[in-house]
Parts: sequence; structure tokens; C-alpha cells
Amino acid sequence: MIQFSSSDELPLDQRPPSVLVPTMGALHDGHAALIRRAREIAGQEGTVTVSIFLNPLQFNSSSDLETYPRTLEADLLLCRSLGVDAVYTPSPEEFYAADHSISIVENSLSRALCGATRPGHFEGVCTVVLKLFNTLQPSHAIFGKKDYQQLAIIRRLVRDLGVSVQIHGVETVREPDGLAFSSRNLMLTPEHRKDASRIRRALLCIRHLRETGEQRSEAYLQTVRKHLVENAPPEMGIEYLEIIDRETLIPLEKVAGPALLATAVTYDTVRLIDNIEI
Ligand code: PAJ
Repeated sequence: MIQFSSSDELPLDQRPPSVLVPTMGALHDGHAALIRRAREIAGQEGTVTVSIFLNPLQFNSSSDLETYPRTLEADLLLCRSLGVDAVYTPSPEEFYAADHSISIVENSLSRALCGATRPGHFEGVCTVVLKLFNTLQPSHAIFGKKDYQQLAIIRRLVRDLGVSVQIHGVETVREPDGLAFSSRNLMLTPEHRKDASRIRRALLCIRHLRETGEQRSEAYLQTVRKHLVENAPPEMGIEYLEIIDRETLIPLEKVAGPALLATAVTYDTVRLIDNIEI
């Protein structure tokens, strides 16, 4: 018999890794990077599963859900070419009982940034992710740093509820002009798509300031805001632009240690997010 007081001391699981990459489909190079990382962790012996599930619980409007791109055939081909072992594609009716009545609410991190304007969004994310973990029983799961807040919330979910899944974060993958890959890029008009490269350029401006030793968050935000709006089309708006602590996501007045500058920009109804570590 063994006695243990912390989950870190749990007898080591000897099974080969089973690695999950949760997605909503319309797969692109960002998702591919997550799948490659999953394959590395799984090795020859382990398994990689990709879930493709357009989770209705995390959408705030039915039109957003309806217009979300769906490319299942191409997604399956990509998964096959990347050596994925299994693809889980439940329908909402299969996944959620018609009278399902339990959900997971995160009460701190999800109030900031995207959570402020998308009530219930992270509740939907936490609920689907925990249910995917319970259904598929992975030992590891991979998430992208593009959705930094989501990654922080999933880490909190796993910590606070004692979920034995190891979470890995993967760097943001970008198109050649710097725009972060997103399934939503397909929804932009050609003009807006071209203009959207300004988001990355604006974020990169913080580098000059960093070199001057500037610490005031407002100085960083002013510079980025200026570049975001300069000659921008009238349909473009800034939903938020903030400098936050990387773990607590609390806004910082001074950039002394590791911080994150995060933004959400809209072109008409298309919402794009990006961030840069400071
Ligand atoms: P989705 O937007 O399909 O993203 C799936 C995963 O891919 C997320 O972890 C996201 O952070 C990552 N990702 C997206 N674009 C990326 C990029 N350019 N570079 C690196 N990683 C990128 O996020 C979701 O789906 C859902 O909320 C989900 C977690 C699946 C729950 O429904």
C-alpha cells in the first residue's frame, strides 16, 4: 500500500501517451502545428486524437454559429496526412443530452478580455473541454497560445478540479503577412483580409518601446492603438486592447515582469484576436 497527499505523487501512469487536440474544425496551419506537437508527445506507441466539434454552447449568437466555416472533408484529409490515429466528430445531439443541465463555470479569469463581451462563452468552452476529457480520457491535451485566455482557463480548470490531463501550449502560427491563422479569416472580405495584417504589425511596435526601458502600460497601449487605427477602414473596431498578467489575466499598470498584450479587433461582424508576450 502507498499513502500519498498530492496528485504529483500519484503512481506513474505507465500507459503510452494518448494525446487529444480539441478543435472546432475548418483546420488550418495553426491546428496542424498542434497536431504535430501531439504526434511528438505521443511517439510511435501513443495515440493522437483530434476532436472536431462545433460546440454550440460557446457561441453567443446563432448567426455566428451558422456562418462558422465547415470543411470536414478537407479536415479529415489533413488529419490523415499528419498521422492522426482517430478523429472524433460527434453531432451536438450525440454529444449533449437534450436535457443536459450541468455546466462548468470559471469565476475569475473568464471575466476579462473575451469573457467581458461574450457572456457564457468560457462556460461553454470549459464544459465541452471537460466533457471531451471525460469521454476520450487523454493523458495530454494541446491548446494554442493564440487563444491565451482559453489556455489559461483550461489550465485553471485542470488544476482546480484535479483533472489528470497534462496541458501543453503551442506558439501562434501566422500567415506570411503576420496575421494569426484563424478559421475566422475565411469570413473576411478580401479588403479586410489584406488590412488585417495591421494587427500583428501594431503589436510588434512594442519592441522599440521595450528597448527604451519603458514600463508604463499606457505608453505601450497608446502606441499599439495608434498603429491599429491609422488609416483603418471604417468597419474596423477595437473590442479590447489590454496589458495583463500572464497567469491571473489582471490588467497591469506597469510592465515590470512577464506580461501579455492582448487585443480583439473586429471587421464588421468578424472578430479576430491576437497577443504578444512582453
Ligand atoms: P478552434 O478555434 O478550432 O481552435 C482549436 C485549437 O487551435 C485551440 O487550442 C486554438 O488556440 C488553436 N489555434 C487556433 N489558431 C491557432 C494559431 N494560429 N496558432 C496556434 N494555435 C492555434 O479553440 C477552440 O477551437 C475551441 O474553443 C475548443 C478548445 C475546441 C473548444 O470547443
